[in-house]
Amino acid sequence: MRSEALVDLAAIRANVATLRAGSSAEVMAVVKADGYGHGLLQSARAATQGGATWLGTAVLEEAIALRDAGFTERILAWLWSPQETASLRRALGAQIDISVSSMTELDLVVATAAELGLPARAHFKIDTGLSRNGATARDWPELITAAAKAKATGVIETTAIWSHFVYADSPGHPTTARQIARFQEALELAENLGVTPELRHLANSAASVSLPGAHFDLIRPGVAVYGLSPIPEQGDFGLVPAMTLRTHLANAKRVPAGEGVSYGHQYVTTPTRTWR
Ligand SMILES: Cc1ncc(COP(=O)(O)O)c(C=O)c1O
Repeated sequence: MRSEALVDLAAIRANVATLRAGSSAEVMAVVKADGYGHGLLQSARAATQGGATWLGTAVLEEAIALRDAGFTERILAWLWSPQETASLRRALGAQIDISVSSMTELDLVVATAAELGLPARAHFKIDTGLSRNGATARDWPELITAAAKAKATGVIETTAIWSHFVYADSPGHPTTARQIARFQEALELAENLGVTPELRHLANSAASVSLPGAHFDLIRPGVAVYGLSPIPEQGDFGLVPAMTLRTHLANAKRVPAGEGVSYGHQYVTTPTRTWR
């Protein structure tokens, strides 16, 4: 073999244990995108051994694959479209928690859960500033009021409230404080409308290691699980990289000082130092 990626599962176990020790919240290990390329099932196994009580994926298929492989932990999937009716049915049937950002999504989840005769576990997403999915502040009251109704009829079992950071990896960025404030407002509004969420979650890796005030009930680290520092300028936070890439060296040569290397010359060799 010319090149190989070696994955140290003990590092994943240790990283999750480190993240867990740094928070009173539960840990959802984000294993989306094939465990950030480290292997979905292997990473998930190591993460649960390290203390993760939740697993997170973007797409439904990966969440279903985890359940099919025998994972009994809570699993949240957050990226699905209304066209994916068959996968939604399978996911809800497998007791996978699902993100809900709009009335269209809620109606689908409610209809599918009713058809299955199985209450759905829904995490209502408020858009606090990332402007991808998540309900806007304007649409939030309608969505939460409908969530309360669905819960009252028993067709929805869990109502969690969550959001996602834009800039948590830029310490002190004003957007982060604004997002936390908007999240708090969304929680208060939900309370006023009769919804007390079982779970509140907001923190990605960067917030997990640097913003304890944003941990709420559950943290959702991804990159940190695999040992990459989410804020490299602040150190490694005790995380150990899980992946080592190895290959045969094809060519070694001395490039003159101050020369650009490869496309766009993104790397420039250090200029020669002279002392007088
Ligand atoms: C919704 C959500 N939560 C958490 C994460 C984990 O993010 P990070 O790798 O920055 O910790 C991701 C990753 O994209 C995500 O989409």
